[in-house]
Amino acid sequence: MEQNQLGEIVAPLLDWYGKHKRCLPWRRDREPYHIWISEIMLQQTRVEAVIPYYERFMERLPCVASLASCEDEELFKLWEGLGYYSRARNLKKAAQEICTKYQGTFPCKFEEILDLPGIGAYTAGAISSIAFEAPRAAVDGNVLRVITRLTQDCRDITDAKFRAEITEALERIYPQAGRGDFTQSLMELGAVVCVPNGKPKCEDCPLVFLCGAYQNNTQSLYPVKKKKAARKIEQKTIFIIKYQDMIAIRKRESKGVLSGMWELPNLDGELTKAQVLQWISEQQFAVGDIQKSDNAGKPFKHIFTHIEWHMTCWLVTCESVAKENSFTWVTARQLESDIALPTAFKKVFEKTNR
Ligand code: ADE
Ligand code: SF4
Repeated sequence: MEQNQLGEIVAPLLDWYGKHKRCLPWRRDREPYHIWISEIMLQQTRVEAVIPYYERFMERLPCVASLASCEDEELFKLWEGLGYYSRARNLKKAAQEICTKYQGTFPCKFEEILDLPGIGAYTAGAISSIAFEAPRAAVDGNVLRVITRLTQDCRDITDAKFRAEITEALERIYPQAGRGDFTQSLMELGAVVCVPNGKPKCEDCPLVFLCGAYQNNTQSLYPVKKKKAARKIEQKTIFIIKYQDMIAIRKRESKGVLSGMWELPNLDGELTKAQVLQWISEQQFAVGDIQKSDNAGKPFKHIFTHIEWHMTCWLVTCESVAKENSFTWVTARQLESDIALPTAFKKVFEKTNR
């Protein structure tokens, strides 16, 4: 199909969405707070993984005011495992702004929504249309895949200008009624029918009669995505330091990856045993036992957006610890229930501490 025929997708999509939409907890109502939190969680995380996080979050922080006034530790604990903690930090900042600037009522204008911390064009479009029925599109990877296949568009979807163009093209065809549903129908089609990796379920697709990629059997060629630069690999040496029933943790610096989060003590690089012993001799504790933790001889890996950590781990048991020392000591139980430990460290801890 051509771009100028795009309007023809509206009716069949709305009809299909009405019959086939998944029953998801954030679709029970159109409460902007619910839409907002779900869209932020869904940005980097799959629907099935988000559901329990969303339910727990709403139980504990059911409205803007509760989010604005919650403790950071509790917020991060609710977020633990979702990653990208700046999303959680921005949620709280935005909630505070809604309280001060809008008396606790979620703003309804697109520009005001877009202005809130952590909200970009995609999220502002999603909230505006789903919660407020505004004719705003929310163009994510799912939507880009559907549209580029329909129109066999081989422009690069990582190009912001192209994404803005698709957003505009979609906004020109928004229906008079069912705008929130239209936004969601596009996402939903991309998520369950027009799926990635060359295996779309075209036989179940309400747009099959319009689809250029289907007609030419070129589904696997779209979307076109410029190759990302390879992730940088960083070696780390992690310490699980135990004293009686306690484990040493500390706060990360306020800048860089996982800024301000808790961490297991660690050093850059893959340290030799001699270097490990040297570092330990400089600490304020007396060591009983040191063991390299074995991950079948391979480093533990954790992938961030632009970097990859390859971690080796040492299990250090202390006989005594000086009163003044640079760590915070917590029990395994506290670590489990109160402290938000980023997944990179949690993985190493859980595999080593069995
Ligand atoms: N992905 C992003 N937003 C979504 C939504 N509202 N429903 C399902 N999947 C989504
Ligand atoms: Fe995607 Fe196939 Fe539908 Fe085209 S027909 S939009 S490729 S699922």
